[in-house]
Amino acid sequence: MNLKTIHFENNTLRIINQQLLPHKLEFCELKNLDDVISAITSLIIRGAPAIGIVAAYGLFIHARNLILNNSFSKELFLIDSKRLESCRPTAVNLSWAINMMTECTRSIADTDVELILEKLKDTALFIHNSDIQTCESIGNNGSALISDGDTVLTHCNAGSLATGGIGTALGIIYKAQDQNKKIHVFVDETRPVGQGARLTIWELQQNKVQSTLIADNMAASLMQKKQIQLIIVGADRISKNGDVANKIGTYSLAVLADYHKIPFYVAAPFSTFDIQIDSGSQIPIEMRASHEILEFWNIRNADIQVYNPAFDITPSDLITAIITERGIINKPISKNIFNYVN
Ligand code: MRU
Repeated sequence: MNLKTIHFENNTLRIINQQLLPHKLEFCELKNLDDVISAITSLIIRGAPAIGIVAAYGLFIHARNLILNNSFSKELFLIDSKRLESCRPTAVNLSWAINMMTECTRSIADTDVELILEKLKDTALFIHNSDIQTCESIGNNGSALISDGDTVLTHCNAGSLATGGIGTALGIIYKAQDQNKKIHVFVDETRPVGQGARLTIWELQQNKVQSTLIADNMAASLMQKKQIQLIIVGADRISKNGDVANKIGTYSLAVLADYHKIPFYVAAPFSTFDIQIDSGSQIPIEMRASHEILEFWNIRNADIQVYNPAFDITPSDLITAIITERGIINKPISKNIFNYVN
């Protein structure tokens, strides 16, 4: 397992261009804040933890560019970080990472640019390195829930392409495979932009995990035929009561899992928890452009109204457990969550 999505060396940030996968494995360099904003908005980089890490490095690069041009001020830096924060409003890892980056310079004078840069770089590296460790721990904790011979269903991509490490939902599968458990993974296409079809199947193949691609509307029939033993997905934001925002379509899987009595697990780091908000109804849902749906059918310039939310909310009572780096939060999640948050 050596797929690394985000590379930072010699103050240079390079990421896999996920728009080109699975046809081409190509890296692109993000040289300034506009490059970072455009990469996050256009899903060149996506997945909650990965967005946070890239935003952190992006802010370091932005501060460095401003300093090299003699135009750095913390006030300007704060304004620009708000611009970055608004690119994808649901994934809380973005604002979490941006907060860490702006906070670490709070007590330093504007003129002490060397120290500001040092702090920003250390913080971005910390965010990245701790995500690598976090993924390992989530993988180890979650792999105990998978038995030899299990068939797992997943949605979207919560693997190495979405994190700094081995992934959350997929990290669990990789760890189970390392333990010599035979696993088969069914992968939802994940319409409208196909993270499952373009990214997850590719990633699983790179890691030699047996997998089968299905269209999103085939999951129910597989469950009815008892061909799925458990479902594992990632998360973009988890509220205080354990409600989960994740890729659109996650909620319908949770409802189906409940009906068919199949365990439904969410794997997520604590950087994805937002305990400032009480429930999922307060999580902002990102609306995406209509072309993501229309262009799939080659419909252009048509006068068609499109509804395209990127995420939905799964209520915590439909979730069997949330697998975190600190352990597994079992039911009742809304109560047990407090044993894990600081
Ligand atoms: O729109 P995306 O591709 O950024 O959505 C990603 C997801 O929904 C993932 O499941 C989530 O971010 C967790 S990634 C570890």
